[in-house]
This record gives sequence, C-alpha cells and structure tokens, in this order.
Amino acid sequence: RVDHAIRPRRLADYIGQPGVREQLDIFISAARGRSESLDHTLVFGPPGLGKTTLANIIATEMDVDIKSTSGPVLERAGDLAAMLTNLQPGDVLFIDEIHRLSPVVEEVLYPAMEDFQLDIVIGEGPAARSIKLDLPPFTLVGATTRAGLLTSPLRDRFGIVQRLEFYGIEDLTEIVVRSARLLGVDTDRKGAAEVARRARGTPRIANRLLRRVRDFAEVRGDGRLNAEIADRALNMLHVDRHGLDHMDRRLLLAMIEKFDGGPVGVDSLAAAISEERDTIEDVIEPYLIQQGFMMRTARGRVVTRLAYLHFGLTARDDVPQAS
Ligand code: ADE
Repeated sequence: RVDHAIRPRRLADYIGQPGVREQLDIFISAARGRSESLDHTLVFGPPGLGKTTLANIIATEMDVDIKSTSGPVLERAGDLAAMLTNLQPGDVLFIDEIHRLSPVVEEVLYPAMEDFQLDIVIGEGPAARSIKLDLPPFTLVGATTRAGLLTSPLRDRFGIVQRLEFYGIEDLTEIVVRSARLLGVDTDRKGAAEVARRARGTPRIANRLLRRVRDFAEVRGDGRLNAEIADRALNMLHVDRHGLDHMDRRLLLAMIEKFDGGPVGVDSLAAAISEERDTIEDVIEPYLIQQGFMMRTARGRVVTRLAYLHFGLTARDDVPQAS
C-alpha cells in the first residue's frame, strides 16, 4: 500500500470531523504550552475513518515519535513491557484494536497509564519476582471500533475520548480531490463527488475507489476522471448509486428474503450470509443504520421501508420508517 503518500500529516490537512479537530487542536496546544505529554487519547469509530491517521497526526503535532502496535499482537505482559520500555519521554504509543488486549496485558497497562509505572512479574512459582520500573511520561493513543467494547477501567483511564463519524459527501469530496491531486490524477469536481458519494462515508474506501476509477479512466478513457467515467467504473465494481457494496446488499436482501424484514438476531444473520458476527457489527451495519436502511431494536435487527425501496420491492404496511 502507498497510503502514506496521501495520508494527512498535520491537523490542518485533516479534512472533516470538525469537532474532533477543534478539540485536539486545543488539547495539543495546551499540552505543548505546558511542555507536557498529551493526555491518553481514545479514538473510536467504524473502520477506515482515520483513527490511525489521527494517532500519527498527534505524534507529529506533539513533535514526538510514535510506536505502533495492536491489541491482538500484544499476547503477553512482556510484549507490552518491551514496547513501554522503548519509549522516549513524550512519545506516542499507539495501540490499534485496543479492545482485543488480553486481561493480563490490560493489567500491566493500568499503572503504566496512571502513574507511568511498569509493574510486572517475572518467572513463575517460588522463583517469581515482581519488578517495578519508572517509565517516561508518554501518551497512549488507543483505537477501537466501539467504545463500548472496552472494559470500563480501561476506558476510564483515557483523559481524551474522540468519536469519529461517517463523513458527509462534501468532506469526502474534498478528500478525493486532495488524494487525486497527490496521486496526479486529473479529476473534475463532479468526478470526485461521484467517487465520494459511493464510498460509504469512509475515506479509506474513497481512496481505494479513486485508485480503481483511475485504472478504469486510463484504460477505457483518456486518463481523466469525470462523473461519467466514475459512474461506469463504480458500476463495474458493483458499487451501487447509494454506495452500497456487495456485502451491504447481501445483508439487506437476506433480512428481507430470509427473515421477512426482521426482527432477526445478529447471530442468525451471520449464519445466513456466512459472515463473522463482528464483521456485521463493526463493518457492515453501522453505515446501513446511519443511512436509514436498517435499525437495531430490542428484539433484533429490522430493515426499513428505505431498504425495500432501494431494491424496488414493496414493503408490508408494518415495515418501519427509519427513526
Ligand atoms: N485521508 C483519509 N482521511 C482523511 C482526512 N480526514 N482528511 C484528509 N485526508 C484524508
């Protein structure tokens, strides 16, 4: 991947998420003014919205290094201890998928976050010894898809919590225009907007579609990206005019055809479309819910009238409107 070429490096280059940008700008300026490390920061939201990008921006703006890892990679307490003892004062430690830390690793993280103390047991049985080390002050940046996945002791130790939202078409269009410029793709605004409209509110998807549309433009067109080329390329990629992809349509159609619109439990849905439950909950349904194609209710997932309409189907009278 050549994502680093188009990832914004500074907060000023970060498009959209105005609330997040304003708050981080203030907290970063304040911490810098006091020559302190930034408070531990939790960033949550659906995949592809820029959590990793923000972690890198925080490090750049604080003028410190970033060391990155992820929850599942830190299998043992010693794995985290190795990361922590490698930090320079003020550094950012970025832990992606922080909700997947094992309980023993999480235990090591608490005193490290709170008191910059490393507290680990080495050896086993009678030979076991506990060692304590002072750590330099650092900033933990944790990323997760849903804040509710964290244990509350872990969540409570973050001084800054930021939620990323799906991007609106205008912000996403700006992102596509910017990426196209950095990639040297000749794009008009309507072409960029067409890619943006069909990118599920997600910069990572927008940038991926941009690359594929560029391929299409170079081979089937004259290399220039306009609305017509984008539409043809995206149709070929089975991204529909609402930006729904193959998996989105599979999920909605399964709910309509196999469960009569719901309510249906997520595990039954997962079985019906042979997908992981986590993929449905973290990747597929957040956008469909945000766009009003389905809802979560106490009795399970239900599709809305909009979903039936989308497929040209007639909904029963009792099928709800999105709330
Ligand atoms: N690339 C991915 N996310 C972005 C954002 N929010 N702003 C600018 N470029 C991006």
